Amino acid sequence: MIVAAKARYTCLSASAVSNSRHAFLLVKPTRHSRCFTSTGSSLQKSLSIDGKSYVSDEWTNVPSTILAHYGRRLHVQPDHPLSITRKLVESRFPGFKNHNDLPPVVTVDQNFNSLGFTADHPGRSKTDTYYVNKDTVLRTHTTAHEVDTFRANLSNGYTISADVYRRDAVDRSHYPVFHQMEGALTWDRNDFASREALTQQIIADLQSVPKHDLKVEDPNPAFHAERNPLQTEFHTAAEAEAIAAHLKRSLEDMVVTIFAEADRALTAAGNDEAREPIKVRWVEAFFPHTSPSWEMEVWWRGDWLEVLGCGVIDQPLLNRADVSSRVGWAFGIGLERIAMLLFGIPDIRLFWSHDQRFLSQFDAGKPIRRFQPFSKHPAAPRDVAFWLPASGPVIAAGQQPIFHENDLMEIVRDVAGDNVEDVVLIDSFKSPKTGKQSLCYRITYRSLEKTLTGKEVMEFHDQIGRQLVSKFDVVLR
Ligand code: PHE
Repeated sequence: MIVAAKARYTCLSASAVSNSRHAFLLVKPTRHSRCFTSTGSSLQKSLSIDGKSYVSDEWTNVPSTILAHYGRRLHVQPDHPLSITRKLVESRFPGFKNHNDLPPVVTVDQNFNSLGFTADHPGRSKTDTYYVNKDTVLRTHTTAHEVDTFRANLSNGYTISADVYRRDAVDRSHYPVFHQMEGALTWDRNDFASREALTQQIIADLQSVPKHDLKVEDPNPAFHAERNPLQTEFHTAAEAEAIAAHLKRSLEDMVVTIFAEADRALTAAGNDEAREPIKVRWVEAFFPHTSPSWEMEVWWRGDWLEVLGCGVIDQPLLNRADVSSRVGWAFGIGLERIAMLLFGIPDIRLFWSHDQRFLSQFDAGKPIRRFQPFSKHPAAPRDVAFWLPASGPVIAAGQQPIFHENDLMEIVRDVAGDNVEDVVLIDSFKSPKTGKQSLCYRITYRSLEKTLTGKEVMEFHDQIGRQLVSKFDVVLR
């Protein structure tokens, strides 16, 4: 194993379930732009973000390439596909308060502790998360704002849409900055004479969620003592069942809308291949901040797509937010994945494009149309093979691995930025003689904007090799 366990969050990414690694992502400079100052090397003694200075420490790992994305706020740029997608989702939750303006620097407390992440949760690792310093991170999910939003107690239902940051693979469906949307709905026990009255109200509210004729596979019980527990201390079985039913129906309604749009756009573009109606299946899941929890997968044009994560909100979390009388549900969805299938956008890097050939294709006032790819520049694949030091990465408890695949991804991004389309491990073996491990990665260089020259590719590739040697003590083969 080269990498630590990847079980972190749901895969709110852009790839199909069958290819389920972590996935996921105008353009006018905004008030946040240029606010990250970065001097010389990618890591500094202090970071200035949005006019505020943060002292760096041994946890700091935010490179300038990531800071350069800060402040684009793609999800609120009027005709941007991510904004159109956000609005489509928001439209299915009328009456919810929409928060679209929350800045991305949050405390470790907001991002992890307040949500019940255990001390050893892999999501906290420096290989997965961008740390500004030991107490501060670039949010890894919109859930970082849940407790504060509940505490403000402004509405029963809300959504939060925002840019989120994760160290991850480099490929057409993963980008270290992407966008998530969170939704939550709560009921206040104080508004009801009894638990039964509250349960009856939730069931009555369910009747006003639009009906659909979608085929839904939901083979598991609403909760399961070991796999997907009811919060017995806080909820009656009837309450949790009612909340779960309301949650599932609301989210089914949302995906019916989205996938009907996607189908219409595909058909309008002349793609009439024999298609089956969409189906939904509910899969048991785990999140520190909900229980029971589920992921929703959608069968669409031949693939099961993992679309969102959700569940009954952890009651201690609501207690921490000083709204202990509230009960309810929450979900989180990745916007890039949905936008990619709605518009047929083939590469996640395109969302960041300033190119009018991309941007001019989207119009919030018109029905969704499929993206027409413009000229594709040639790919230049190059392999990098190396021996890991000693007997390979031994990951002792509490220690960072010597080499984590995401470290290579970071070097690639730092050196070549968006000129790389993907990075895949193509070979791995252990020498029986020395016990050393050899890895070979294929880096595919391809710009979305121009044809890279052989010399440019060579320079990128050489520099990546040099950084691997200097930072991780590997021996190139
Ligand atoms: N925070 C989860 C993630 O990033 C998504 C989620 C949000 C799940 C809200 C449940 C409820 O993977």
